[in-house]
Amino acid sequence: MRNIVLIGFMGTGKSTVGKRLALSLAWDFVDTDLEVGEITSLSVSEIFRRYGETRFRSEERLVVQRLSQQEQLVIATGGGTVLNSRNWEALAQNGIIIALHASMEAILSRIGHKNDRPLLKGTREAIEKLWSERQVCYAQADFTVDTSDKNIDEVVGEILARLERMKKNGFSDVAKD
Ligand code: S3P
Repeated sequence: MRNIVLIGFMGTGKSTVGKRLALSLAWDFVDTDLEVGEITSLSVSEIFRRYGETRFRSEERLVVQRLSQQEQLVIATGGGTVLNSRNWEALAQNGIIIALHASMEAILSRIGHKNDRPLLKGTREAIEKLWSERQVCYAQADFTVDTSDKNIDEVVGEILARLERMKKNGFSDVAKD
């Protein structure tokens, strides 16, 4: 079977949900941000600060290329990973793309106080703008799960149920929502 790729804005729960989903499926879990961190021996914030976003995106691209060639991985991407169409294509070619969605309120209450996301440092208006601009891209996923008012078990349960339905349909009859 292919990979499962979680996409979505920062704070939608990709890593938390991904870890639990991987556990349920007995698959390996990988997080593209952590992979970049491991390769560069720097945190995401540190890479942005020292070398800028361009360097981060090129490291991220290499990680995506490598992970896309593997199987049975649950991959939590960074919020901007799939905005690069080459990343999207590579991940989609070998995986099911699941978007996690959350309201701006839910996102800010989860991660607004944290200091580890360079792109969350702007004003609320700037973050909202980024969030809105990206929705078109995230909406191209095979399916979307709203995590705003759900706990991890509920989100994972919903994903597993949707995957089961897709499996029954031979992974071909995928209704986008
Ligand atoms: C980013 C999201 C972050 C991380 C980097 C850039 C983005 O990952 O990749 O700070 O462009 O949205 P998370 O979505 O896991 O926070």
